[in-house]
Amino acid sequence: MDLPKLGLGTYRMNGAACQAAVESALAMGYRHIDTGQMYGNEAEVGAGLAASGLPREAYFLTGKVCHALATPDEARRSLDETLRRLRTDCLDLCLLHWPRAGLDIPGILEMLTRARQDGKTRRIGVANFPLRLLRLAVEEVRAPIVCDQIEYHVLLDQTPILNYLRAHGMTLIAHVPLAQGRLAEHPDLARIAARHGATPAQVALKWLLDQDSVAAIPKAGRVESQRDNLAALNLVLDDADRAAIAALPKDQRFVNPPFAPVWD
Ligand SMILES: NC(=O)c1ccc[n+]([C@@H]2O[C@H](COP(=O)([O-])OP(=O)(O)OC[C@H]3O[C@@H](n4cnc5c(N)ncnc54)[C@H](OP(=O)(O)O)[C@@H]3O)[C@@H](O)[C@H]2O)c1
Repeated sequence: MDLPKLGLGTYRMNGAACQAAVESALAMGYRHIDTGQMYGNEAEVGAGLAASGLPREAYFLTGKVCHALATPDEARRSLDETLRRLRTDCLDLCLLHWPRAGLDIPGILEMLTRARQDGKTRRIGVANFPLRLLRLAVEEVRAPIVCDQIEYHVLLDQTPILNYLRAHGMTLIAHVPLAQGRLAEHPDLARIAARHGATPAQVALKWLLDQDSVAAIPKAGRVESQRDNLAALNLVLDDADRAAIAALPKDQRFVNPPFAPVWD
């Protein structure tokens, strides 16, 4: 299946609550679940997928190989473990999680390309790649990547990367689309939301989802948040709303761990 515009992020979801959140999201109509080896919740995500009763082809599953793995061979073995924990024989999308300094990026991308050829994932992509590394992956390694999963929300401009992705027929998957929950309380978004009988989180999400070649994966553990975010697809923003959002500061990055690359 194609990548759905809206998915469920699962970072910081663990144990029985993680399984329950995956189950409730799928029952409600979500068809994209995003996880990663680094989240330590693949077994619970896998249990939720199995308990949903949905056939494997009914949902889109994204996994990520961890940037802490030293070699492409280690990453290849870890992908087999991921498939076992998620109870599937094939991901829909497998990403390299971070372009950590010192990582053999070409080697891992070549490993992912082979994994795709071997039927372990239908597509491959990258995450947290700034433009210069995205260019390296596409133009030098020539890896057949379909996306860059990066931080993107109303408070952070990503126009150069988005333009590059669009020009190459690729997708920007927006992680932390709610700025880690901050946008659910944002006063300017609340003013826009009030005019539509919506919530600030819905405004933040619909601004992303209205953009070509952009998908989003908000994390929502609570059933109310899951429902709210799915209903954002029906919200209609107008030019005044978009102008108000355009006027917000666009330089606020919230995901910047010590192993992050230099952002360009
Ligand atoms: N590739 C990467 O390196 C990377 C990095 C960061 C994140 N991600 C992915 O992106 C996903 C999302 O990022 P994130 O979880 O850090 O941040 P986020 O999605 O921006 O925000 C999540 C927070 O917003 C709250 N929330 C969600 N919907 C809401 C609503 N409608 N109303 C009010 N509050 C709402 C959640 O609360 P409740 O859970 O309590 O409902 C949670 O506290 C992650 O789960 C992960 O899958 C990827």
